[in-house]
Parts: sequence; structure tokens; C-alpha cells
Amino acid sequence: MKGVIADCLAKLVIEKFGKEKWMAVLEKAGLPRDTIFLAVEDVDDQAVIRVIEATCKVLNISMTQAADAFGEYWMTSFAPKIYKTYYRDARTAKDFILKMNFVHAEVTQTIRNARPPKFGYEWKDNNTLVMKYNSTRGLIDIMAGLIRGVGKYYQEDIQVKKISNTALEIFFPS
Ligand code: HEM
Repeated sequence: MKGVIADCLAKLVIEKFGKEKWMAVLEKAGLPRDTIFLAVEDVDDQAVIRVIEATCKVLNISMTQAADAFGEYWMTSFAPKIYKTYYRDARTAKDFILKMNFVHAEVTQTIRNARPPKFGYEWKDNNTLVMKYNSTRGLIDIMAGLIRGVGKYYQEDIQVKKISNTALEIFFPS
């Protein structure tokens, strides 16, 4: 997986909890304490997943809490700096969420044999979207956290519910 995900998690943990905690996370994940993830490199999927799980253990938080903190930080602090254009093109949370296949395909173009997540969209009614998660990585909780983060960025009170390991239901109030 593109290293930008682990790089963002590192920045979040260091900013909110300090460098010592991040080094403890790396150690728990079985990695050297001075590991640096470069945003543009390809990082082994299993290493990223181990780092996410180690973050929950070291900080004593649930996967949902970690995913929500990551989603908020990615959407409101980290990505606006490096992926500005995708925000400029979307005026609402809905606009942003509907372009996620395009954004993931584009940002992983430079990664050899990239396998970006793919999403399916099915409207249940005017306000309720079922968004399918297509990936072998099993990170649907992170997906839910990121969508809550989109709501925070656009200051919209969207509701996100996990309905299975491959689908979320998103309610847009307007
Ligand atoms: C500025 C907006 C975003 C950018 C630039 C972005 C970019 C990326 C990148 C580069 C990866 C690594 C993918 C790979 O190497 O295969 C990734 C992973 C991921 N992204 Fe995003 N992302 C954004 C927002 C979102 C949002 C809003 C969602 C919610 C649908 C989302 C869902 C995911 C998931 C679930 C993964 C983990 C990979 C997987 O499960 O296969 N992303 N994203």
C-alpha cells in the first residue's frame, strides 16, 4: 500500500501522543523503532495493518476510535495540504465521496501493481447511500472513519453505519 497512509498515522500519533508512543507502536508491530514511511513508496500491506493494530494496543483504544481519529486527521489536517485539488473540485461531502474511485486510481498511478480500494454506490433513497467496499485489505472501519472525516471537513452531519464487512450505509441529512 502507498506509504502515505502509514506516514499520516505516524504524524497523527506523534502530534497527539509524542514520539515515544509512536516508537512503542513500531516496536509492537515488530518494526525497527526508527522506521520511516515515505509517502510515495510502496509499503507491505501486512506491515501497515500491524501498525494500525499496534496503535490500538499501545494507545488502549478500539479500532473504531483509531479509525475515526485517523479519518478526521487525514481529511481535515493531512490531505488538505497535499491533495488540495480534490477538495477544490467538490463542494459537498456527497460530491467528495462520489469521486473516491477516481481519486484512488489517480493517486496510486505511480505505484507499481497498485491495488487501490474500489467502491460501489447504490442509492436506497434520496438521502441514503449504500457504499460497497472492494478490497482484500479488510479496512472497512478505516473507510467509515474517513467518511466521518469527510463530514467533519464539510461540516455536514452525515451518519455512517457499518452494515457488513463490505458495505456501509451513509445518511446525508440534505
Ligand atoms: C483526499 C482524499 C483521499 C486521498 C488522496 C486518498 C488516498 C489514498 C491512498 C493513496 C491510499 C493507499 C491506497 C493503495 O496504496 O492501494 C488510500 C487508502 C485507502 N483509502 Fe483513501 N484517500 C482519500 C480519501 C478517502 C476516503 C474519503 C475514503 C472513504 C471511502 C477512503 C478510503 C480508503 C481506504 C479504505 C483505504 C485503505 C486501502 C484498502 O482498504 O484497500 N479514502 N487512500
